[in-house]
Amino acid sequence: MSPALPPEALTDIHPLPRLLMGPGPINADPRVLRAMSAQLLGQFDPQFRAYMRETQALYRAVFETANTQTLCIDGTARSAIETVMVSVVEPGDRVLVASFGRFGQLKAEIARRCGADVRVIEAEWGTVFDPAHIEREIRAFSPRLVACCQGDTSTTMLQPLADLGRICRAHGAVLQVDATASLCGTPLPVDAWQIDVVTGALQKCLAGPSGIAPITFSDSVASTIQRRRHIEEGLRPAGYRAGEGRIIASNYFDLAMIMDYWGEQALNHHTEATTMLYAARECARIFLLEGHEAVYARHALASRAVVAALQAMGLRVFGDLANKMPNVTGVWIPDGVSGDRVRTAMLDEFGIEIGTSFGPLHGRIWRIGAMGYNARRDAVLTTIAALEAVLAGEGYRFARGAGVDAAREVYRAQ
Ligand SMILES: Cc1ncc(COP(=O)(O)O)c(C=O)c1O
Repeated sequence: MSPALPPEALTDIHPLPRLLMGPGPINADPRVLRAMSAQLLGQFDPQFRAYMRETQALYRAVFETANTQTLCIDGTARSAIETVMVSVVEPGDRVLVASFGRFGQLKAEIARRCGADVRVIEAEWGTVFDPAHIEREIRAFSPRLVACCQGDTSTTMLQPLADLGRICRAHGAVLQVDATASLCGTPLPVDAWQIDVVTGALQKCLAGPSGIAPITFSDSVASTIQRRRHIEEGLRPAGYRAGEGRIIASNYFDLAMIMDYWGEQALNHHTEATTMLYAARECARIFLLEGHEAVYARHALASRAVVAALQAMGLRVFGDLANKMPNVTGVWIPDGVSGDRVRTAMLDEFGIEIGTSFGPLHGRIWRIGAMGYNARRDAVLTTIAALEAVLAGEGYRFARGAGVDAAREVYRAQ
């Protein structure tokens, strides 16, 4: 006999309204939800292949790159990170991870699972690296691949990247940038900054759901991967010859097969997550319609408003403000205030989600995001107003209204 079903399991999904003002995911742009409700198509339907090609063109524009290999990986952001590592890195290869938070640790962990000889250099949480420091480590370690976040949401810090691509190329290392949390919130001109590989996600500044990850990589990285091309039995085209390199250890994340799948030859691989592709296409379309500079300015403005509000409330913003991500702000939880109780009250009473952080920062800071669809004045002001009310209820002493006034002033002065 099958176990009894809880009665709620047969009700439809009807979540309470939420304003997601944490480090991501955030609320999807309603246009993205609309695109996702379009009927499914077969992945080899000419209409669908056209959507795929359009999505590639849209993301080349988003990434500001001419890279042919600009496509999407079906999975959350880490699936794209893992796809690159497992396809580029061979067991024993040296990988240098410049880590300034939890997501640097994630890349080190993935590289280790790929059998790499991993060296991790760490910047104190709340700070970033001087590129000259990374260059010294590259000289000393001669890595095949250097991995780094652009923005690490766990610490809210943004690593300056303008020089790192050139440095890596000068030393023959591939630079892999994890832009999950920063893509479309802050500039990342991939070709101008000579970055070999960038992976992203929709659920932060692109205002979509998690579950598909845009990625771009250079011709040189593509040809390294092509050397390892071993097409799955049953899919091999006439005249197929396996690459001389080592077979990629994952089938799902085999970037050589994924390139064939997205390319002209449209070789079968996985069954495309068509709904997610619609979402990725719509996110990029919406971003490009607003324009790179306008979107970055909207995020920067929201960031200034949040910071001004928190400071006016007498709270201390976390980390090096000069290198803060524009889309998320960390703030120290004041003494005597329960961080969890505040977050629970924000959610239960106001329907607003904010985050805490991980590891050494868990329970010590809150993270307030204002990104993608939610990098809006009304969303910022509502969040600050709710935080003021909840903090006052917790007995925290400050000038009531000062936060909202300061944020409004930033928007008014705009
Ligand atoms: C910088 C960064 N990298 C990687 C990830 C992992 O993303 P996902 O949970 O989509 O796999 C996150 C998630 O927040 C992130 O912020």
